[in-house]
Amino acid sequence: MSAISFDPASGVWLLSTARTSYALWIDPTGAPCHLAWGPPLTLAAAGRLVLPAGEVSSFEGRSPAGEELPVDGGARYGVPSLRVRFADGTRAFEWAHLGHRIGEPAPGTKELALEFRDRHYPLAVALHYRVHDDTDVVERWTVLRNTGRQPMAVLRADSAAWTLPPRDHYRISHVTGQWSAEGLLHREPVPHGETVLTSRRGITSHHANPWLMLDAGDCGEDRGEVWSAALAWSGSWHLTVQRTPDGRTSCTGGAGHDGTELPLGPGQEYATPRFAGLYTDRGFSAASRAWHAYVRSHVLPHPDEMRPVLFNSWEATGFEVDEAGQKALAVRAAQLGVELYVVDDGWFRGRRDDSAGLGDWTPGTERFPRGLVPLVGEVHRLGMRFGLWVEPEMVNPDSDLYRAHPDWVLHFPHRTRTELRNQLVLNFARDDVAEWAYGWLTRLVADNGIDFLKWDMNRAFSEAGWPAREDGQDLLWTRYVHHLYDVIDRLRADHPGLRIETCSGGGGRVDLGILSRTDQAWPSDNTDAADRVSIQHGFSQIYPAQVMAAWVTDVPNQLTGRSVPLRYRFHVAMAGVLAVGGDLARWTPEELSEGAELVAQYKTVRHIVQHGVQHRLRGPVDDGPTAVQYTTADRREVLVLVWQRAPRHGTPRPALRLAGLDPTACYRDVTTGAVHHACVLTGYGIAPELPTGDWSSTSLHLIRVDDMTTEGTGSH
Ligand code: GLA
Repeated sequence: MSAISFDPASGVWLLSTARTSYALWIDPTGAPCHLAWGPPLTLAAAGRLVLPAGEVSSFEGRSPAGEELPVDGGARYGVPSLRVRFADGTRAFEWAHLGHRIGEPAPGTKELALEFRDRHYPLAVALHYRVHDDTDVVERWTVLRNTGRQPMAVLRADSAAWTLPPRDHYRISHVTGQWSAEGLLHREPVPHGETVLTSRRGITSHHANPWLMLDAGDCGEDRGEVWSAALAWSGSWHLTVQRTPDGRTSCTGGAGHDGTELPLGPGQEYATPRFAGLYTDRGFSAASRAWHAYVRSHVLPHPDEMRPVLFNSWEATGFEVDEAGQKALAVRAAQLGVELYVVDDGWFRGRRDDSAGLGDWTPGTERFPRGLVPLVGEVHRLGMRFGLWVEPEMVNPDSDLYRAHPDWVLHFPHRTRTELRNQLVLNFARDDVAEWAYGWLTRLVADNGIDFLKWDMNRAFSEAGWPAREDGQDLLWTRYVHHLYDVIDRLRADHPGLRIETCSGGGGRVDLGILSRTDQAWPSDNTDAADRVSIQHGFSQIYPAQVMAAWVTDVPNQLTGRSVPLRYRFHVAMAGVLAVGGDLARWTPEELSEGAELVAQYKTVRHIVQHGVQHRLRGPVDDGPTAVQYTTADRREVLVLVWQRAPRHGTPRPALRLAGLDPTACYRDVTTGAVHHACVLTGYGIAPELPTGDWSSTSLHLIRVDDMTTEGTGSH
């Protein structure tokens, strides 16, 4: 059960989740200050954390860590979470507390809103906190309102600042990457000073992802305290971790990058995106599981649906898509057991390669003389759903759209319009652009019976200007994202059966914001199964397997040239939402039959992968096997996937210790029939049978023995 309580005597608010507490108060200067985030406390105990202010030297000022939303103002020298410039040029903010509200916006959810205003200027600030019965995640966001008659500028408006308790050391876990190498996990000491994770690209980015985990350097996968936070925002963002000279660590974060500001006109309100925080004392793996559960219960629109096995045409046919070729592939895909057939790039007017066509979203008449309907009909007749690739935010200069509306792109006067992949970014912040995109998308879906969109976004912003509006270049960073969200939301409302995959040249736009209105994500254009193991490892830190699309493609891999066995490629893709992206026209009968067998096998275990809980048994850190375990919530069924190269120097493979089983139970291996005691599996481990040689892999499906009557039915 979650709860929010307030003690008027001590002035302390206590937010309680099932296993954690979060406490705050307002200090004598009127500033909202942090007291605790960690193991459970009572309200009385939290009150004891309020310490009288001591004497400080004239050089110190306030500590950069310890406020709920440190402002630019007073004797503060750390990173401000809130910076404003009022109409007369004054920049400092001074807190005046107005009151608080505690409510229950939905069953099982409690919300606290702390309301403030500036002591003099017409700016209202509300700090929002939400807790839920079924998660330890605390959601936070901030709402700013200009209550005056003159415009003001918000130079920085973070969603929240998180403060950690004092520890001797701190460590940060986060991901970095680039196109084709997203989500590579790093775990390193937090340096003294300021550490910035950011995207200045207008999208979440391949290069960093807006989440982090902090620990005291003593946390492991299965033990130890970890404080983590993830931002629900799909544009530019900025997280700063501070390790202060007084030995504290905090993190402030929100939308927008350095140098951008937000105009806030009279009467206007700005609500920041949510920044969710999670504390656990059970290690990184438990933190990930808690995030997965949170994404499922509070982020995804359709968490209970089983994601279908899809086929995607991109690596198979590239831009060469036409009705006959796709119909032929669809027949093979259906035979393989595919449930959703997705036609990728190349289907629309003028699209022969990446130099033209974006913006002209009608089917190419040479390739689809009768439009898309005959292909969609055939795919449906074959028993599959139909999906289509779109890139609504983009335009090629060589397109009718651009010739008609050259002012619709992000641009500055007298500046080069920098092309990346021969394309420019449409200014989605403009009402007419967003309306145009919504219009053709909703018609496309309705007129063709489309069940699924792969929504792509293939370049970062540049020359991010909007000359038609004086405040345009400041406004567009947030308005662009809000309009993107609106268009997706309206499409979903128009077509309740429509499912959407978020893609941005692979994993350039994966975050809690986009996931609250899409169904799955394309983590990377790198489909080399060997590389994918580390990409998936990074992805799994916050995001659950049920949104992690994974294609089996052909070898040698188009990007890396590496060849690994079909079985290994399948086993890697089975760790998420299995899909096929190879050229099925070239698959041999043996490959097709092995593929069909593995697709069928996936269907018997995907309920464990997509809806179960995940334990990373061994990360991709050394020569040994990498292994991931999924277990159904009732601990009845288990799937372990193991991937490895040949052990160096012939060293024996280490035993894998399973996790999270019912210790008193026995589990039977569905393939071999062998029965294992859970206490042996978890306490001493098992060495799964793996073929020798490079790139060997296996899957181990276990069912609790007392439940063996349903063995192999693949119930989901
Ligand atoms: C991006 C996507 C790919 C594919 C191509 C098509 O790179 O990530 O999967 O859709 O665009 O141009």
